[in-house]
Amino acid sequence: MKLGGSVITHKGTSPPATNDENIHRITKELKTYKGGIVVVLGGGAHGHQAAHSYGFGDPTTNKERLLMGIPHIRHNMSILALEVESALNEGGIPTVVISPFSISTLKNKQIQSFSTTIMERALESGCVVVTHGDVCFDEERGASILSGDTIAVYLAKKLDVKSVYIGTDVDGVLDDNPTLNPSAKHIPVIDHTNREDVLRKTGPSKNTDVTGGMSKKLNELLELAKQDLDIVIFNLTVPGRLTSLLSGESVTCTRIIP
Ligand code: IPE
Repeated sequence: MKLGGSVITHKGTSPPATNDENIHRITKELKTYKGGIVVVLGGGAHGHQAAHSYGFGDPTTNKERLLMGIPHIRHNMSILALEVESALNEGGIPTVVISPFSISTLKNKQIQSFSTTIMERALESGCVVVTHGDVCFDEERGASILSGDTIAVYLAKKLDVKSVYIGTDVDGVLDDNPTLNPSAKHIPVIDHTNREDVLRKTGPSKNTDVTGGMSKKLNELLELAKQDLDIVIFNLTVPGRLTSLLSGESVTCTRIIP
């Protein structure tokens, strides 16, 4: 379950602020589900602003500057993860945070190693695991950003997962940028018949998103669709949608199928 950064933080605010109202509502909605969950947090204001200010996202930034960004980004992401962990524990969901920085390395922005041993143990012991987009050491670049979407896709392949739910601040995939084109249309299903067309229409997101926005998200999810999983992009800012999704009801969303 990915909680998009634009839902759990106030993405435009500096210094970064968590969206406590949404975090508490999402906690109540998650509580309705009785199975195991890995919750993957996006960076939102906490991750993207700090990453942007150290030149992540700009291919010309040198190693030294990227490495200098690690403490600031890590600190912000730890604060965000702690907020969500506190809300879940206080809401009666036993939760632990496992940060990618401590269990993974990257090579040219791709995952080189990512240990899931402790996550699996935590899930077996009945805990919900919170992990998050993070800055990680990168063998080629010094440091790179590992996005929450990439983590969600990676874990879906590695763990015994039956669904991947990507919570964002839009109803799913639209055929144009809704801020620039208010009549952008919602796409309910992406499969082999329309995937190329959809990929052409979805560009990188606006603002300080250093991890590629909707088109990168989609490319990764389309690859995952080859596995037999329920893959859904939905609007997590609408109260009740997560609850409906978790209970198997039909909701407005984009489903990704082979
Ligand atoms: C970004 O993660 C993590 C950092 C910038 C440290 P995501 O790319 O998954 O975050 P959102 O959901 O777009 O905010």
